[in-house]
Amino acid sequence: MKLTPRLQTIAELVPNGGRIADIGTDHAYLPVYLIENKIVQEAIAADINVGPLRNAEKTINSYKYNKYIETRLGSGLTPIKPNEVDTVVIAGMGGLLIRDILQESIEVVRTVKTLILQPMVAQDEVRKWLCGNGLKIDNERLAKEGNKLYEILVVTKGEMEIENDIYYEVGYKLIENKDPYINDFIEAKLRKYTEILKTVENENTAKAKEKFLECKERIEKLKKVRECL
Ligand SMILES: C[S@@+](CC[C@H](N)C(=O)[O-])C[C@H]1O[C@@H](n2cnc3c(N)ncnc32)[C@H](O)[C@@H]1O
Repeated sequence: MKLTPRLQTIAELVPNGGRIADIGTDHAYLPVYLIENKIVQEAIAADINVGPLRNAEKTINSYKYNKYIETRLGSGLTPIKPNEVDTVVIAGMGGLLIRDILQESIEVVRTVKTLILQPMVAQDEVRKWLCGNGLKIDNERLAKEGNKLYEILVVTKGEMEIENDIYYEVGYKLIENKDPYINDFIEAKLRKYTEILKTVENENTAKAKEKFLECKERIEKLKKVRECL
């Protein structure tokens, strides 16, 4: 199984051994790769939708991995029982959905050793939620596919303090680890906020003014982060 750079980076972050649950598995590419490479012993490939779960079954059947990978239909972590898995991966969904999935099944989350989360958007909301729920980010990596950068968080139990709110947006571990894509990541954010700034600077509404100040502050903070790299 050849994975895309995003899924490959996720696979590299999965701890060796034990059982994994891949939530929102779609084609089950990740669990198949993890079994094929003997990174985990068993996997549960779960999805809320029948179509993606059928795709998962097709992939699993073609590799004859039915003994190692079980498919389950259901929303979020609801198909998983407490203490059933060591690692949970939730990738390719929005940050708010990931947060809600974790919140809804907090009793399962508490029994998992490692969570690997790859929110497509609202990554800051995921980091905020983790902070308030006895979970800490042990590691973070960026993966690049085309022009797009993906943020991947490795989370375990423990306390985490985020001193400056910019680190909700730029994961501190990316800076600490000198992630190969950190410069590109910050430059992309600076470009995004500069674009927004340009569109709102000549508008006269209170909302536009608020947005303008918010963007200016973000840009200053991002520039400070850039100076520390
Ligand atoms: C974009 S795909 C991501 C597939 C794979 N995880 C990846 O990262 O490549 C999103 C998948 O999540 C599933 N999904 C969406 N909401 C879900 C939920 N609440 N619980 C479980 N699966 C969900 C969708 O059916 C879809 O198969």
